[in-house]
Amino acid sequence: MKRWQLMMGVTAAIAMGSMAALHAEDDDAKAKHSVKEIMAKCMKSGLCKKVADGKASAEETANLVAMLSELPKNEAPKGDADSWKKKTAAVAAAAKAVAEGKDGAAAALAKAANCAACHKEHKPK
Ligand code: HEC
Repeated sequence: MKRWQLMMGVTAAIAMGSMAALHAEDDDAKAKHSVKEIMAKCMKSGLCKKVADGKASAEETANLVAMLSELPKNEAPKGDADSWKKKTAAVAAAAKAVAEGKDGAAAALAKAANCAACHKEHKPK
């Protein structure tokens, strides 16, 4: 094989590989639920509090975990992207820890789900 043919082949393989990777990431990274939807179903509804208070059923807890796991996949409607990532990942991780029955997880969830702290930075007026 001539050298330029090899180069072309390699370049094409890389391009195709990264396109496939991008596509996979796109599918995975796309949030199934919007921030507003998650707010209504987890926060406003009181579900998150119920889970943090230890009063939710396993099914309700699993539901909360599924919803909150989508939160970090949304872009911050406002404010610093890193701060958003940290806050949303913390809420999702805390909910998951509650579902797994980890010690102190409920308190961590109550803390991570601080409405005012997050709204002040990330909720558009
Ligand atoms: C990790 C960040 C975060 C936390 C924690 C959080 N929120 Fe929100 N909330 C948001 C953002 C961002 C919006 C704005 C969404 C938009 O406008 O797209 C919002 C919007 C809302 C809305 C309006 C939804 C709508 O349809 O416009 C309600 C209601 C709400 N939050 C309730 C709560 C309550 C109650 C809590 C605490 C128990 C809470 N949120 C905790 C980030 C958060």
